[in-house]
Amino acid sequence: MSRGDMAKPLLGHGSTAGERSPPPVPAGRTVGVLGSGDFARSLAVRLVRSGFRVVVGSRNPKRKASLFPAAAEVTFQAEAVKKADVIFVAIFREHYSTLCDLADVLVGKILVDVSNNTEINHHKESNAEYLASLFPACTVVKAFNVVSAWTLQSGARDGNKQVLICSNNQEAKRTIAEIAQVMGFTPVDMGCMSSACEIENIPLRLLPAWKIPIFLALGLFLCFFTYNLIRQVIHPYIREQKNKLYKIPIEVVNTTLPCVSYVMLSLVYLPGVLAACSQLYYGTKYRRFPDWLDQWLQHRKQIGLLSFFCAALHAVYSLCLPMRRSHRYLLIETAVKQAMEKKMTVWVEEEVWRMEIYISVGIIALGLLSLLAITSLPSIANSLNWREFSFIQSSLGFIALVISTLHTLTYGWSRAFDENQYKFYLPPTYTLTLLVPCTVIIAKVIFSLPCIQHRLLRIRRGWEKGRYVKFVLPSATGEFSSGETSSNV
Ligand SMILES: Cc1cc2nc3c(=O)[nH]c(=O)nc-3n(C[C@H](O)[C@H](O)[C@H](O)COP(=O)(O)OP(=O)(O)OC[C@H]3O[C@@H](n4cnc5c(N)ncnc54)[C@H](O)[C@@H]3O)c2cc1C
Ligand SMILES: NC(=O)c1ccc[n+]([C@@H]2O[C@H](COP(=O)([O-])OP(=O)(O)OC[C@H]3O[C@@H](n4cnc5c(N)ncnc54)[C@H](OP(=O)(O)O)[C@@H]3O)[C@@H](O)[C@H]2O)c1
Ligand code: HEM
Repeated sequence: MSRGDMAKPLLGHGSTAGERSPPPVPAGRTVGVLGSGDFARSLAVRLVRSGFRVVVGSRNPKRKASLFPAAAEVTFQAEAVKKADVIFVAIFREHYSTLCDLADVLVGKILVDVSNNTEINHHKESNAEYLASLFPACTVVKAFNVVSAWTLQSGARDGNKQVLICSNNQEAKRTIAEIAQVMGFTPVDMGCMSSACEIENIPLRLLPAWKIPIFLALGLFLCFFTYNLIRQVIHPYIREQKNKLYKIPIEVVNTTLPCVSYVMLSLVYLPGVLAACSQLYYGTKYRRFPDWLDQWLQHRKQIGLLSFFCAALHAVYSLCLPMRRSHRYLLIETAVKQAMEKKMTVWVEEEVWRMEIYISVGIIALGLLSLLAITSLPSIANSLNWREFSFIQSSLGFIALVISTLHTLTYGWSRAFDENQYKFYLPPTYTLTLLVPCTVIIAKVIFSLPCIQHRLLRIRRGWEKGRYVKFVLPSATGEFSSGETSSNV
């Protein structure tokens, strides 16, 4: 099987449980299950509900029979194996060798290896290959290991449960794919048996696509938190011996979270800008991006969702700011001070407007980010066409970045130029966050200038600045010399 065949639905085009009616259950098919543990029980329940006859092979059938649905026959391993052509081996790899006594009765049968490992396998042969080596007269298919016992019990209700299948035998693979589809799952062809190791490693990977974005978010959080701690707690203590430790749990965190969110949001749109710069510079879209940019482009969804997560937390923290006892004490203190100074009005028109605007703008930005987060759910994304999806992700996402910038700027206002700050100048944190977002916004504005936009669009439709065609000229001696010609397309 070629690599191009990998990761394709095995039956028909994009065959999902909901899209097309499953094939009829192969008439009178009896399926065997070896083992009586959690997985075997759930598998038996699902197979019985899907219309198969099930025969379970156990070392102790009498004791285990009551655990299975009445429609399933529970018997000794050798008996079960005789009655079925397809046998699910629902036992752990360590115990495969105990099945060797059954080798004679297993000849010509399809064995489905559903096993997982406890650690990622880098070098060892896969469990399925090991099973195949123990039973050379059987056909081994790797399948169902990415489905949990719980999912088997509850059924593939969200219509998106894939069963990854691989085997060296096409016919056996097709048979298991049909069974999977009748059970309500989506079979996905992962090629030949050498893919088994990769399939066995899948359930062991912990959020592989999230690792880099999570480290990025934690790194930014740590940097901004340290800076805010110095600025809001340590600095006032050194300067005025004031104890501001109470600020750490809410104020320092609520200055840190929006900065992380805002910078991460700009990092979602920066790689698109860099991709566009590269395309403009080289005058082609067919040149491969460097690996780091490729990786970055692929992680934008996770970076964006983490940005949304931090923004949502920031909104909740912000709403809690006036609830705090420290806030009330400070308010009363200010009121008492003003009463003693006989000040009757404390209303500052500019401050009032500034706050009304930045809170309102912040809410709009969060609303737009929520829209992006909702459309990233597979069920919603699947209901949108490409234009709708890219309008929301690309255009509305960029608008969310612009509005977040307005929110930050109206919040910051003239704070950066406050003269009091200049004695021991530690710039307000928001000033540090503005660099990347403003660069992205300016770059996007430049790219929208008609002359540049036109060129970029042409490149993205396949136009190239210069195309070099390599050719070889046969020389008089019969040797070849190389030359180059260029043609503008
Ligand atoms: C809350 C939230 C949720 C998100 N959810 C998702 C999500 O579900 N799915 C998702 O994909 N993103 C998601 N994102 C990330 C982001 O919204 C999208 O990636 C968005 O499309 C980026 O827009 P863009 O204009 O920068 O780039 P794009 O619209 O992707 O690209 C602009 C142009 O750059 C070029 N380009 C981009 N990538 C490549 C590439 N790899 N190879 C060659 N050319 C390229 C193309 O020519 C394209 O026309 C999310 C972001 C947030 C904040
Ligand atoms: N649980 C899950 O969610 C899940 C998900 C995906 C894959 N899997 C895979 O499915 C297989 C079974 O998992 P499980 O959770 O069902 O395990 P389990 O509950 O421990 O059951 C294992 C079964 O193996 C049988 N067995 C046969 N020979 C054995 C021996 N020599 N020693 C001990 N047991 C023996 C036993 O049944 P008898 O006593 O009746 O013979 C036992 O009930 C494993 O390979 C696992 O990786 C499980
Ligand atoms: C419901 C939505 C929002 C509300 C109510 C809100 C509210 C606030 C408040 C009250 C502050 C001042 C915090 C303080 O006093 O320290 C603030 C600052 C800030 N907000 Fe928001 N905000 C919202 C959404 C957002 C979003 C979506 C972003 C960006 C993604 C964002 C980015 C920022 C930034 C960068 C600051 C400056 C932090 C600093 O340097 O002190 N906010 N916001």
